[in-house]
Amino acid sequence: EPVSPPQLDKCGLSTYNTNKGVKMEVPCCPPSSETITKYKLPPVTQMKIRPAAQNLTPEYIYKYNKAIECMKQLQKDHPEDPRGFMQQANIHCAYCNGAYTYDTKPGKDPFTLQVHNSWLFFPFHRWYLYFYERILGELIGDPTFALPFWNWDNPKGMYIPEYFLDCRSALHDCKRNPDNLKAVVDLGFTGSKNPDQVVTNNLSIVYNEMVAANADAYGFMGKPYCQGSNEKESGPGSVERGSHTAVHVFVGDPREPAGEDLGNFYSAGRDPLFFCHHSNVDRMWTLWQYYLPSDQIPDKRITSRDFLEASFLFYNEKAELVRVTVEDCLDNRSMGYDFEQCDLPWLDYRP
Ligand code: C2O
Repeated sequence: EPVSPPQLDKCGLSTYNTNKGVKMEVPCCPPSSETITKYKLPPVTQMKIRPAAQNLTPEYIYKYNKAIECMKQLQKDHPEDPRGFMQQANIHCAYCNGAYTYDTKPGKDPFTLQVHNSWLFFPFHRWYLYFYERILGELIGDPTFALPFWNWDNPKGMYIPEYFLDCRSALHDCKRNPDNLKAVVDLGFTGSKNPDQVVTNNLSIVYNEMVAANADAYGFMGKPYCQGSNEKESGPGSVERGSHTAVHVFVGDPREPAGEDLGNFYSAGRDPLFFCHHSNVDRMWTLWQYYLPSDQIPDKRITSRDFLEASFLFYNEKAELVRVTVEDCLDNRSMGYDFEQCDLPWLDYRP
């Protein structure tokens, strides 16, 4: 059975563990709504192009900052508006920290939804960013607004983009590791202080995750996860397990009780950098689907109904609750956006 959309009126507390192993509870549920409509992708009139974060013009940075500022303001003025900053952050917390539990047959354990560590990882985050981007566009009255991607797979982009560090900016977040604010991102958790070595290591890691390590589509996408699945049977794909998680850990603040913000699922969405990071994760999926031929994986498509019909709920840019399916998010261009083309220096890092 494909994962079915959560019942918002049964949403419960989310939980997470601190670094000291203390279990914490936190409310992350979205407002519920009487009506849920099946989301239909709007016709694409103009392709939005997500730019590499290190290439933004001052005007673009201004607009991006403005959009996040509006989202924060919306939260202050209307805390219940699902498009506000905290509400958007809490989507991640609810889908990843156990807020959505489903009743199962008597005698069976209840099923708790977790969108990480499986083939749901790319589709869930794609939809999450899709609506987040549209909401930002709506808030600044610019429907062409496209979310930049943190190009951490390219030496030119292997730092936190500097406009995230300006403490006057809406893009700033104080819960980040102070030692890493200007360091080369360390995709291999090496802890090395030699930047050249980290860069080289990063490139071979990306090559490996994108090309070499995957024997089949599940190696990249993650293992199957269905309604009632036991989390222990699923498993993450190469990018989710590796570079993606490394970036979370790299930015999260080790002085905080649970690695906040980026270092923990429940708080990750509170750092605007999360979405810029995931925009690149999303780009990695597109590159893998369309740009990297592979002899090892002649067919990259997963055709199981359990995958294609899995569905989630989101609030769209008009604050309407909609149901979306995995099937409808497999092609980014039909969703109306694409990525700025950049070189892929890691392609030369075949071991
Ligand atoms: Cu939902 Cu990068 O995690």
